Order: sequence, then structure tokens, then C-alpha cells
Amino acid sequence: MANIIGVITTSHVPAIGGAISRKLQSEPYWKPFFDGFGPVRDWLAKVRPDVAVVIYNDHGLNFFLDKMPTFAVGAAPQYRNADEGWGIPTLPPFAGDQDLSWHLIESLMDEDFDLTTCQEMLVDHAFTLPMALLWPDTQWPVRTVPVCINTVQFPLPSAERCYKLGEAIGRAVTSHKTNERVVVIGTGGLSHQLDGERAGFINKDFDLQFMESLSHDPRWATRFTVPELVERAGTQGIELLMWLAARGTLGNARKLHSNYHIPISNTAAGLMLFEPAE
Ligand code: DHB
Ligand code: FE
Repeated sequence: MANIIGVITTSHVPAIGGAISRKLQSEPYWKPFFDGFGPVRDWLAKVRPDVAVVIYNDHGLNFFLDKMPTFAVGAAPQYRNADEGWGIPTLPPFAGDQDLSWHLIESLMDEDFDLTTCQEMLVDHAFTLPMALLWPDTQWPVRTVPVCINTVQFPLPSAERCYKLGEAIGRAVTSHKTNERVVVIGTGGLSHQLDGERAGFINKDFDLQFMESLSHDPRWATRFTVPELVERAGTQGIELLMWLAARGTLGNARKLHSNYHIPISNTAAGLMLFEPAE
């Protein structure tokens, strides 16, 4: 039986790629953000997962507005990064885990999730930069399974639906007949809005309540509709749906670490680590 050994949720921002390439991790602006990852890296070095299921939203690199799947799962032997126009270096390719990918796809389809399956897939900053934050030497020690949730083109899936997707991913992983140790990584959020009248919007109170809820009442945010979440977290803050899906893969969980720092670029940057609990 494969096992989910932990869940990591983190924000993603292209500027992180610039900071890494210019070695700015110890600069006052960046230090409180990068320092947050130390305990998570130590935990990863201790638990040594075999596979990372990475739940993220593509921003136009692999899917564009003309064709936008609500949920998509990668089933490729390898995933490459490419230039998105942010001026950040691309990162080395990521090994896939086709066996786990197809098992996830079949299990999720059996549970009535209508997926797009991708046997070729480019992965953008939302996938690559969290990986580089977790494994800074970029010698990826895990195989990967990308799971994309649309947060770019309306209509978006509800928070409830995303949480249920996470629960179904959790069941799928634990029904896989291998001994793989799986870490689930959810990347997006927290509050931010990049355009429109509220550009620059950040809502610390909401973010902290949301983070707290993931420890004690993980379904809390599922009471809100997508427009209500956009109102509270901003147009791009809706990326917090990735956190909900990732958290949904674990039942009872214990928080091992969290960090929250405002702002990184235009984003309230959050990080959490959970382990399964009895
Ligand atoms: C920023 C945040 C994002 O989530 C993203 O995908 C792109 C940019 C930002 O804050 O700059
Ligand atoms: Fe984003």
C-alpha cells in the first residue's frame, strides 16, 4: 500500500525564481520567506519521499484560455519547464511516475471526476519553484505526478469540489499496491490580486484564519463560494483551492510547521507542513 507521509502547502511567485538565480536568499526582503523552508527541508531529508503529487494551477504555459480543463493529471515519463516570459531561468526536467499517474487517473474517474489526461505536459512556475524551494540543489530526489486545477478561466470548481478531489486522491494513493512514500504538495495563494481595481489586495486576517482552519477544521473554507473566496482573498488568492485539495488528501493531520510573510511580490506568502495523525 502506498502511503501519504505528509502534505506541504506553499505560495508560488515567479519573483522567487529571480531571487534564487541572483542568490538573494539572505537579503532582508527575502530572508523571512526563505527561512520558512528550513524545517520543511529537514523533514523531507528525514522522511525521504519517493514521489511528489504536485497540485497546482497552470498560468498559461501548458493550457491557454482556448482550452481549459477544470482538472488535469499528468501521465508523462518526464515534465519540462519552459520560459513563461518572467525572465527567470528554467529548471531541469522532472521525472514522472506513470504507474501512479494512471492509477490516480483510473481511481479518480471511478469516483466521477472527469479529468483531462496529459501524456505531454509543460510545468510552470507554480510547479517548479516550490520544488526548487524544497530541494534547492535541483537534483530532484522524487518522481512526480502533476495535478492541475483551473483557477485562471471562469467558471472555476468550488472549494467543496476541490476538497473532495483531494480526498479522492488520498484514497487513490492508499489503494496503490506499492510501498511508495508519497508527499502531496499544494501550491498557490494565499491572498493576492494582480490586476483590476483591487490590485495589490492582501487580507492577512483571512489568510491566518484559513491557515488555522487547516489544522482544526479543514473543511472550513468549503462553506464559501468561489466569488466569496475571491472577495476575501483576491482574484488570484483563489489559488488557495490548491491548499484545500492538498489538505483533503489527509484525514486527521498534525501541523508540524507553518510560516506566513507579507508580501512577496504582490502575494501573501504562506507555508504549512502536515503529517498524518491518528
Ligand atoms: C505573482 C503571484 C502569483 O501567484 C503568480 O502566479 C504570478 C505572480 C506575484 O505576486 O507577483
Ligand atoms: Fe499563481
